[in-house]
Amino acid sequence: MPKTTPTDPKIVVAKNGPYLVSGTVPLAVQVITPNKEGFSWDWVEARSFQVESPYALCRCGHSKNKPFCDGSHAETGFDGRETASRIPFAHQAQTFDGPKLTLRDNESLCAFARFCDPAGKIWSLIEQTDNPAARDLVVREANHCPAGRLVVHDKKSHEEIEEPLPPSIGVVEDPALGCSGPLWVRGGIAIQSEAGAHYEKRNRVTLCRCGVSSNKPFCDGSHASIKFHDGLTGK
Ligand code: SF4
Ligand code: FES
Repeated sequence: MPKTTPTDPKIVVAKNGPYLVSGTVPLAVQVITPNKEGFSWDWVEARSFQVESPYALCRCGHSKNKPFCDGSHAETGFDGRETASRIPFAHQAQTFDGPKLTLRDNESLCAFARFCDPAGKIWSLIEQTDNPAARDLVVREANHCPAGRLVVHDKKSHEEIEEPLPPSIGVVEDPALGCSGPLWVRGGIAIQSEAGAHYEKRNRVTLCRCGVSSNKPFCDGSHASIKFHDGLTGK
């Protein structure tokens, strides 16, 4: 097991409270940006925040100082019970086989960012991956999925095709849907549950910050149905 040092980036899920972030973890707004057809296509970094370790991020959705915690969870009686499974992704995901790539999919993690939609959706594109353009698009779409719901493997080598992300947190904004999204946790930051157990370390995951997910601490896309707004973009 790799040794950890006090400065290793880490997120602790506080009981009915915020995410406590320690180590060097930059924080910036990440905006879902559409292509000409209106499909989610790129991430554009907007403002960044000056942060010093440790800092606390709102998890209940009610802070007046988002994305940071202002203690509102105590006033609103936030029920932040963690309901997500800690079974590793590989044991939970469904497999979709294509000629050159394999797609692994854990639907319960979907953050509804819709990068998997262009060109007829990733589940049909996977079947066309003997075409290099379709193969490249599948790799792109899976790697843009913030939630880590979708992971691609090379069919021959079985290796994961994952673009490593720098340890950082993105505060997601989704102007096309007119709402704010989850916290996009990147680069294998350790996430510890309130009970002290750890979730699997992954390159991409999304943590709920609207307070409504049924798969806490992870986002399940509910922010889109409640039209969660953090007020950071003025929308
Ligand atoms: S979070 Fe991932 S799986 Fe869900 S819609 Fe977005 S790209 Fe697709
Ligand atoms: S932020 Fe996506 S469900 Fe709460």
